Amino acid sequence: MKEMRYLTFALTKGRLADKTLERLNKIGITCSEMEDKTSRKLIFVNEEEKLKFFLAKGPDVPTYVEHGAADIGVTGKDIIMEENRSIYEVLDLGFGKCRMCICGFKEAAELLTHHEMIRVATKYPRIARDYFHNKKFQTVDIIKLNGSIELAPIVGLSDVICDIVETGTTLRENGLSVLEEVCPISARMVVNQVSMRMEAERIRKIINALRK
Ligand code: PRP
Repeated sequence: MKEMRYLTFALTKGRLADKTLERLNKIGITCSEMEDKTSRKLIFVNEEEKLKFFLAKGPDVPTYVEHGAADIGVTGKDIIMEENRSIYEVLDLGFGKCRMCICGFKEAAELLTHHEMIRVATKYPRIARDYFHNKKFQTVDIIKLNGSIELAPIVGLSDVICDIVETGTTLRENGLSVLEEVCPISARMVVNQVSMRMEAERIRKIINALRK
């Protein structure tokens, strides 16, 4: 009999990885090596089931999956849209829910009602550009930031921001509001296109179990 090859999972470091492992545990996919939170190991193996797991920064998950360094990945829809990789998005896992929104001071709402150029600060230039160019037909100057996006309108760097809103607390505490919603976000499972064919049976089994 042909020996089973390893199926490799790339998970997004942090809360999303914890939730993903919780969900995988429920369908019998476990990795005891990962339970030791003090470990500095990078790859975790379940020899019996021939599974490997590693943790990566969200934006790197689609990269690993596209290149086949991981067969399966779990990350946010925001990252999948922004990275725009050649991978299959196979399942909405339903957790990590939030919204991609255009936010700013209430007075900035008026700037979104016509087509004049505005400045938009964001960690997601592709999503912001697509929304303004293709949905709103508005010319925008995109300013790429790497975090604390809410600062931008406050210090006068941009008119509005395109960012993730979860509880809305960051906006509220800084006098900002949601002006428009771009799309809902949640954690998604993605699969390498070749793996989906070569390991179809094992991967489909996992997808079906998680769907239930
Ligand atoms: C995210 C997002 C908002 C905040 C929204 O930031 O960019 O700033 O969370 O959450 P809330 O609606 O519950 O307040 P994150 O914590 O990832 O930090 P960063 O933007 O500095 O990367």
